[in-house]
Amino acid sequence: MLYSEKVMDHFTNPRNVGEIADANGVGEVGNAKCGDIMKIYLKIENGVIEDVKFKTFGCGAAIATSSMATEMVKGRTVDEALKLTNSAVVEALEGLPPVKIHCSVLAEQAIKAALADYYTRQGIDPTPFVGELADLDEEHLACAR
Ligand code: FES
Repeated sequence: MLYSEKVMDHFTNPRNVGEIADANGVGEVGNAKCGDIMKIYLKIENGVIEDVKFKTFGCGAAIATSSMATEMVKGRTVDEALKLTNSAVVEALEGLPPVKIHCSVLAEQAIKAALADYYTRQGIDPTPFVGELADLDEEHLACAR
């Protein structure tokens, strides 16, 4: 399987790894089929993502996409982060092999889950902002290691 230099860079030297003790938005998504789990911590102040960290137990593409996705939402507003798509992350990584595209969905969904948690903690229903989270098992059926 051929990975771009960008993917290898983010896989071997992932950005924003760790946890945020006083995070105000935390999202975890997992996939039952491959067993991969991704957790995102957000520290949001005045609608801006001041800090973001992730922990991913998963394949190389899942780690590279989490790393890139966190870089892409850091310093951005909640509204901008809500617009982040997995295809934008894949593009920023200069592509992923087709069987690994679905790993990038995990990164998008983990960020959405953390943003949903941020709304929920404030007593706001996140669904109108975040939408329904995808059924990752369905999305992931084609994901082979
Ligand atoms: Fe499960 Fe990539 S995220 S194989």
